[in-house]
Amino acid sequence: MPNATIHWLWLLGLSVTICGCTGVIAATAESEARWNTQYGLINTVPDSFIIHFDGDPETTVGQKNAADFFTQLRSLGISYTIGFNYTAVMNAASVKVEEKYADAMTSLSMTQNLWPVHLNSAEPLGNSSVRALPALAPLEHEITGVKKVHDTLKYTGKGVKVGILDSGLDYTHPAFGGCFKTSGCRVQYGYDFVGDSYTGSNAPVPDDDPMDQCNGHGTHVAGTLAGNDGNFRGVAPDATLGIYRVLACNSLTTSAVVLQGMLRAYKDGMQVINLSLGLSGGWGSWAEAEMANLITQKGIVIVGAAGNDGESGLFSLNSPAVAPGVVAVSAMEMPKFYSLYFNLTLEENVPIRRSDHQSYLPKLSILGKQLRPATNANGDDFGCGSVVDLAGTVGLVQRGSCSLTIKALNLIQAGAIGMVVYNNATGEPGILYFEQEISIPAFSITQVDGKYILDEIAKRGVVRVRISDDLFPFNNTKPYNTPGFTSMGPSPEGQPKPELSAPGVNIYSCLPQKMGSYGTATGSSMASPYVAGVAALLIQAGKTASTEQFYSALIHTATPQMTGDSYISAAHQGAGLVNAYGAVTSDVSYPDRFLFGGFWDDGDLYASANEYTFSKALTNTGKAAAAYTASFGYAQSLTSFDSNKQLTATPIVGTIRPKVTIKSSTSVTVKPGSTNLLKVNVNHNGIAENSFFVYSGYVLFKPTSGYTGSALSIPLAGMAYESFKAPVLPPISAGLPCLVRYSEGNCLSGTNTFTFKDGDFPAVVFRLQLPIYRLRIRIAKPSTPNQIHASVPENHYFNLAKNMRSQAVGYYTYRWDGNVYHTPYPDRIVPIVPNKDYVITFWIYVMNTRNPVLYSTPIIRVSS
Ligand SMILES: *[C@@H]1O[C@H](CO)[C@@H](O)[C@H](O)[C@H]1NC(C)=O
Ligand SMILES: *[C@@H]1O[C@H](CO)[C@@H](O)[C@H](O)[C@H]1NC(C)=O
Ligand SMILES: *[C@@H]1O[C@H](CO)[C@@H](O)[C@H](O)[C@H]1NC(C)=O
Ligand SMILES: *[C@@H]1O[C@H](CO)[C@@H](O)[C@H](O)[C@H]1NC(C)=O
Ligand SMILES: *[C@@H]1O[C@H](CO)[C@@H](O)[C@H](O)[C@H]1NC(C)=O
Ligand SMILES: *[C@@H]1O[C@H](CO)[C@@H](O)[C@H](O)[C@H]1NC(C)=O
Repeated sequence: MPNATIHWLWLLGLSVTICGCTGVIAATAESEARWNTQYGLINTVPDSFIIHFDGDPETTVGQKNAADFFTQLRSLGISYTIGFNYTAVMNAASVKVEEKYADAMTSLSMTQNLWPVHLNSAEPLGNSSVRALPALAPLEHEITGVKKVHDTLKYTGKGVKVGILDSGLDYTHPAFGGCFKTSGCRVQYGYDFVGDSYTGSNAPVPDDDPMDQCNGHGTHVAGTLAGNDGNFRGVAPDATLGIYRVLACNSLTTSAVVLQGMLRAYKDGMQVINLSLGLSGGWGSWAEAEMANLITQKGIVIVGAAGNDGESGLFSLNSPAVAPGVVAVSAMEMPKFYSLYFNLTLEENVPIRRSDHQSYLPKLSILGKQLRPATNANGDDFGCGSVVDLAGTVGLVQRGSCSLTIKALNLIQAGAIGMVVYNNATGEPGILYFEQEISIPAFSITQVDGKYILDEIAKRGVVRVRISDDLFPFNNTKPYNTPGFTSMGPSPEGQPKPELSAPGVNIYSCLPQKMGSYGTATGSSMASPYVAGVAALLIQAGKTASTEQFYSALIHTATPQMTGDSYISAAHQGAGLVNAYGAVTSDVSYPDRFLFGGFWDDGDLYASANEYTFSKALTNTGKAAAAYTASFGYAQSLTSFDSNKQLTATPIVGTIRPKVTIKSSTSVTVKPGSTNLLKVNVNHNGIAENSFFVYSGYVLFKPTSGYTGSALSIPLAGMAYESFKAPVLPPISAGLPCLVRYSEGNCLSGTNTFTFKDGDFPAVVFRLQLPIYRLRIRIAKPSTPNQIHASVPENHYFNLAKNMRSQAVGYYTYRWDGNVYHTPYPDRIVPIVPNKDYVITFWIYVMNTRNPVLYSTPIIRVSS
């Protein structure tokens, strides 16, 4: 029989919600080929595992455990191939072995943990611009205090070693010194673990040279962190760099490769490591998160992007940012950003944002030419038929109605020297794509700007433009907003996350010279190197005496931002926008990153009472007394579930939250060398346990007059409900979970016979609305569906990610191939007794090993 396995299905072209009306899932139309597109758990490499053995890899005990593990596999007759041995920090190896043996491997005594090898990716930046753009000074440094740290305190990261795991770096770029590893170079360490064409499934082609020519992501983020060409200066422009290339041209990599990269950065003595892998929906206990966490316990700072899965709601952080020791960073919008533009020359120049034009055309220089609407005989401005004479002018058309290529050809026919397309809906200006090469430059602008220009033309008759390939600093309409794409905490384990925010929207930074040298990108990837740079400044400033003080300086000096009259959720913005000057100069610290409001869990955490009090002290290691007024500010409470307990695209804002009171004095003076107790009471009384809200807020310390230190804010977050009551499965009306015939896909009911041959296997299609701690799959008798009759061999599903919207919308499919084992013998796999009736029962553990949510299929008749 073929291997049973869990399949991740890509629901291409199907709608987000599966129609609950007929009980037939949308997968009916799926072809057999589609069912088989991707094997394994979400984005995993088939039959590949990382196994963590007990003990320290640098001791003989640890080494013996690893060796004994493989001896045991051989004695069980299980064949395997070792990929990599990880010989420091985490006692582990990556191993290729059939998936059906995973439970057997998990049950061996020296196994501490086992994970499938995950596929990680980041977006390649692609050819967003291939024309050289100028080196401009970053606009955000003034706001984050980085400029002040550079100018007045003269900290620039000098002497601090920063490791970057990403797509490599174009170190020949003038912002990186133009050399690699030779004396005096910025980049003193580095390695390429993958080569250009690595996909996660083929063999990596490692070499010594981490050059980035084809991707751009690594060069962009390295620019933000540490670029320096005199004018463009990153956050830590004098830091020493280690470049670990773990992403190939297409941005693919695996957790097995990333572990190697982290280990190498650690062995090279990096003090700050920025991680480029972003695996959505990760747990703090996934392999790369665990390795990252172990490295942070050795005093190395690891900073990672929160992720770009905010559209999937709460609990959508990336691994390894989700690991408790790693600093997870969200993207935040800034008041200003650079964009390509053109001027409308009215009484004064009015800059209009635009996209880039076609990469095969030269730089733009259209100065003082008329801009005319390309209207046709009907008077519409779509440019779809023959249009008015545009000789020597730039044509303005509206998007829609016909293809961009038709519009462009019509404008060329009318003599236009350029084409401006204004959007027919809201949205940013995007690069225009044509089916053939178009000889006149063409670019897009927003709908609002298009309408504005049409008004001006209506008023004035003639309007002229000046178009060049320069950039202009535009005002942002949503300064200090946490954009919807940024992933949200808490971690699947319930811990408050992310730690803080940094500039991450329309960020101007370096690109490989082949891709234009400089350019703009957006994402939490752009935010995390900013904080990694600030961490380097803190290290240079000597803020390293205690781990707690270091993280407190970095996190608690951040500035929480508001939306309306409450703070943005701490599950989205963390402690707020990074404040480099505050961090470097602050002497007062609080030991915990967050006040963790907890969650109700069947008598566990914060168990016995609905009320509890935090009492820990602020410490002043400086020379001056620090005086503050303390207060508590509530942030939005958020839930990702509607009243039907179905996941929503945008979290719902509510007011369900505990009562939070500061019990200690709100007038706080912390003298040098002394500590001051902070007491905060959280009272959950009266909160409905089915509310599913994540609440948060900030204990705010505002300096009182005379004290010049930074304001501090300690974020508090928690869950207002019992974890196991959360709707991990969608409502029944959504039609899932359901039993299907693997080769067909209709939801089945009643009794169904399966031959377990030629694709005739039972399968369960299910969608997870929350990450889950464990899925156990059991076979039961129909009369006692909740009693275990036998277990299936692929019973090792720990720490599953929830289904994310970014993954083209989908669900998991588990296919049973008819094999079972009887606990506790996972290595004795046998076919189930035929010609009898069974059900498959899912035991879904949401956060821990208690109170599983159960689901049983309709009856499966096994036919021999
Ligand atoms: C990895 O370690 C195992 C023992 O733990 C050893 O048998 C094997 O040869 C090593 N493989 C590699 C590739 O180093
Ligand atoms: C970028 O452009 C080059 C040259 O036109 C092309 O070879 C390459 O495939 C493009 N890369 C991407 C990611 O679009
Ligand atoms: C556009 O106008 C601004 C503001 O007057 C000016 O600084 C800039 O040079 C102009 N650009 C062009 C291409 O004329
Ligand atoms: C805008 O134009 C696009 C492309 O032609 C089209 O698909 C879309 O429906 C149009 N939207 C509106 C609101 O007209
Ligand atoms: C941008 O905002 C500043 C104030 O913050 C204002 O002075 C300036 O005129 C604005 N610029 C534009 C182009 O709207
Ligand atoms: C930093 O890590 C984030 C993800 O954790 C990544 O997206 C970004 O590219 C990295 N930056 C650098 C400079 O490596």
